[in-house]
Amino acid sequence: RKDLLGLKDLSKEELELILDTADSLKEFATRKYKKLPTLKGVSMINMFYEPSTRTRASFELAGKYLGADTVNINSSASSVVKGESLVDTGKTLEALGVNIVVMRHPMAGSCKLLADNVTSSIINAGDGTHEHPTQALLDMMTIREQLTSLKGKKVAIVGDIAHSRVAKSNIWGLTKLGAEVALSGPPTLLDHNKFTKLNVTCHHKVEDALKDVDVVMALRIQKERQGTTLIPSLREYARLYGITKERLSLAKKDALLLHPGPINRGIELTGEVADSLKSRINEQVTNGLAIRMALLYLLSGGEQNGNIA
Ligand code: CP
Repeated sequence: RKDLLGLKDLSKEELELILDTADSLKEFATRKYKKLPTLKGVSMINMFYEPSTRTRASFELAGKYLGADTVNINSSASSVVKGESLVDTGKTLEALGVNIVVMRHPMAGSCKLLADNVTSSIINAGDGTHEHPTQALLDMMTIREQLTSLKGKKVAIVGDIAHSRVAKSNIWGLTKLGAEVALSGPPTLLDHNKFTKLNVTCHHKVEDALKDVDVVMALRIQKERQGTTLIPSLREYARLYGITKERLSLAKKDALLLHPGPINRGIELTGEVADSLKSRINEQVTNGLAIRMALLYLLSGGEQNGNIA
């Protein structure tokens, strides 16, 4: 493959290869071992048209830990503000010899547009409400690491499903690897007709989705995609859907709590559960580095150059 645009198009085998490669690279991501100069001579650019802390920092570190030359472009400081189009920007980077472009953009489909017009590899770091494949991969890695396998595991995804690219990528990835997915959110943020076609169950009552699940994944309310009036209000959302200790106790005794971050304490989940022993939120961030290292390695033809395992 030249690009990683989403998990919808990946096979079960491709997903497993990425997760296995990330497992092998975790000791480098956690700095037990220092650099692995597999990507010496490879250049990559992080091009983010939306804010990011975790994704951008971890892609930059992933590239650096593997010996690639990495550059960050901030959209507000790029020639996009002078009217340059996305495709022209991509062609400019291609002319500079950039091998991999990591892009986050507010428009769904923007990464596909770029990938279709340049020879550089494109990695989707989140495109509008469409997909956020590296986030779902790190979520899947965290679940697999903690619970051995995804097959037969029950995962509840709670929150702003309508605007969540994290939920979409997780639905594709988790179901392909045999997990059962239950979605819950208010009627304004979860259209049952749309999502039940994707081999998941939908619940407007959050307690119904949480019962006996292995994993609870709370999502951030995407205020920036909802316009000026939030329905429900944040206070109503917290009361009806916020993950509290009581709601979390409906899941299995050893259930894991995930959240892609950034978290809004007191809205999607209480500070108490975010900091509880069930929380794997920090582990997700660490695994994000391993997943991004794995993708840079695989998209650069790492397998042909010798296995890292
Ligand atoms: N989860 C996630 O994408 O976080 P950032 O927006 O900080 O990259």
